[in-house]
Amino acid sequence: MFDLTGLTTLKLPFRAAQVLKLSSVDNVRVSMPDLRDTPRLILGGGSNLVVLDPVFEGVVLRPEIKLFEPMIRGDEVILDVGAGVHWHQLVMQTLAQGWYGLENLALIPGWVGAAPVQNIGAYGVELESHCVAVTLYDFELSDVVILRHSEMQFGYRHSILKAYPNRFMVLSVRLRLSTVPNTRVEYGAIRDEIQRQSGSVERPEDVAHAVMAIRRSKLPDPDVTPNVGSFFKNPVVRPEVAERLATQFPGLPVYAQDDQMKVAAGWMIDQLGLKGFAIGGFSVHQQQALVLINDGSGVAEDLRNLVKHIRQQVKATYGLSLQVEPTQLGQL
Ligand code: EPU
Repeated sequence: MFDLTGLTTLKLPFRAAQVLKLSSVDNVRVSMPDLRDTPRLILGGGSNLVVLDPVFEGVVLRPEIKLFEPMIRGDEVILDVGAGVHWHQLVMQTLAQGWYGLENLALIPGWVGAAPVQNIGAYGVELESHCVAVTLYDFELSDVVILRHSEMQFGYRHSILKAYPNRFMVLSVRLRLSTVPNTRVEYGAIRDEIQRQSGSVERPEDVAHAVMAIRRSKLPDPDVTPNVGSFFKNPVVRPEVAERLATQFPGLPVYAQDDQMKVAAGWMIDQLGLKGFAIGGFSVHQQQALVLINDGSGVAEDLRNLVKHIRQQVKATYGLSLQVEPTQLGQL
């Protein structure tokens, strides 16, 4: 058995029977064993994984693919990046090259391979606006396949990889960036922070620094405080439901999401007075109520009870069911 607890940011006990490291797309193409009938788990940065069953009797796949291959055509940069590259390092590296587009997604933990799975998003930008295609290993076909953006079924924290959680493994992601800055600063807090730092809303570097400052002030560093970022998704509801809730609960933040409305779950949990609320070693983060933290002594049962309590309270007051955002291994 391999002890993989330290490879997950929530630090719940995790041991696995087998670990298979993959170093390149060609390595996968040539030497991937047939794992169709073997329980599999793909482990990248481990920052969006909740391990509720401490023992995994299958194979853990580690796509340590470090590809970084740009193609520059005029002011467009097409960049192929391996699943094993650290997301934040990629953001910083592209900025340093003067290739813009990822600045709002600075400081998101984890590896590139996880980015398309839940279509990572922050401060008004989602991965999908820069993702042209994804190279995957298809365990059903036992082959490497490429899905274009239009085939990825991207949505809010969603993609085809969430719809078929066991079928594919991300090997690399093709991004479209630009040498021409085109910043997105609709998110009010970014503008305020840029102003505070005496920066310019037109400079992608200043946007990245503002995003980093906001994240550092609200979100616990997973290297210091075990957590998996937002534990719940913001519920997406019909516009009339959002309108009714906003009238009933003045101040409730609501945002347009396609033709629906997204309601701020963190605000609701906060309003229920649950910031700092703890069960055993798990508690609701003091600065961002959508984040649950482990003080290091937390066990799966504490987390189950905390999640149950939060869901019950939100359901009773707001009538909404909270969905868990990170990937789960085992049942809550
Ligand atoms: N709010 C509160 N109290 C809280 C938390 C939030 O009043 O404890 C309010 C905020 O003041 C704001 C609104 O709720 O008016 C939304 O909060 P915030 O801007 O912090 O964003 P969020 O909706 O809670 C989402 C993402 C984050 C991402 C931020 C910024 C999801 C599940 N989470 O959080 O992503 O960083 O927006 O864009 O969509 C993650 O996925 O792990 C993650 C951190």
